[in-house]
Amino acid sequence: MTGSGGTRDLEEARAVLAAAERVVVLTGSGISAEAGVPTFRGAGGLWRSHRPEELATPEAFRRDPALVWGWYRWRRALVGACRPNPGHVALAAFALGPRDVEIVTQNVDGLHQRAAQDAAADGDPAAGFPTELHGSLLRDRCSRCDRRTDAEIPPPGSVPGPDDPGAADQAPPRCVSCDAPVRPDVVWFGEALDASSLEHAFEAAREADACLVVGTSALVYPAAGVPRAAVAAGRPVIEVNLEPTPLTPYATFSLQGSAGTILPRVLGG
Ligand code: OAD
Repeated sequence: MTGSGGTRDLEEARAVLAAAERVVVLTGSGISAEAGVPTFRGAGGLWRSHRPEELATPEAFRRDPALVWGWYRWRRALVGACRPNPGHVALAAFALGPRDVEIVTQNVDGLHQRAAQDAAADGDPAAGFPTELHGSLLRDRCSRCDRRTDAEIPPPGSVPGPDDPGAADQAPPRCVSCDAPVRPDVVWFGEALDASSLEHAFEAAREADACLVVGTSALVYPAAGVPRAAVAAGRPVIEVNLEPTPLTPYATFSLQGSAGTILPRVLGG
């Protein structure tokens, strides 16, 4: 059965999630859209105005490291100015509750962690920390020796955007260990995802009692395979999105609307 996204579906989806002991959640850029982080393919999405092969591949970084580094510095400044939205907040509260909740994200913006830290107050936020399949904007990694460090996040508005005159080119720093150029610790097109994170995500999907999928176009594999593994294992899948995706025909419930509106209702206590 594929739900049409009405109030009854929302109530039924809510009951499925409330009864589940183990829940796997896959998120994409749509959950952060209301926080002000651009998506990739939607209206105003990054890949509508920029070519991924010029900005998000190892070849692009070798060809023009200053262009790529400048673009990522701009994105870091942008994300640094954003706060978790009600969707992140509801999910963090759900993950810190009594269930075993595994959040798997394609996002690199660190907003799930910030929401979990806020929600945990003095407690341990780790249950709300996601498996980050595509890495993190908030870390640097040496392009040769893989040494990882926390990234410097430029103050909001301090980095000109890629379309501003005289924009964002800036040479990347050098690794303190081996002197190679440092890059953001994100997964670029053509690069492999971390194998153990991926295996962890697929195992969680196969073993969960329910799978929640939020704000992803469900087009980019292998991440898009995570809810497909839940479908194959016969688990109920609840999709939250503004519009239908290739996953929608396989979803048990397809809740159409914004993550910031639907998640507090479908996850709320
Ligand atoms: P996309 O931009 O492909 O899709 C965003 C999805 O979020 C769309 O299906 C929108 O309809 C939906 N959406 C937008 N706003 C929403 C809202 N407020 N509430 C709910 N849904 C909303 O982004 P991803 O699926 O995350 O990879 O893209 C997957 C990967 O492709 C990214 O991780 C990135 C990109 O290229 C790499 O950079 C490797």
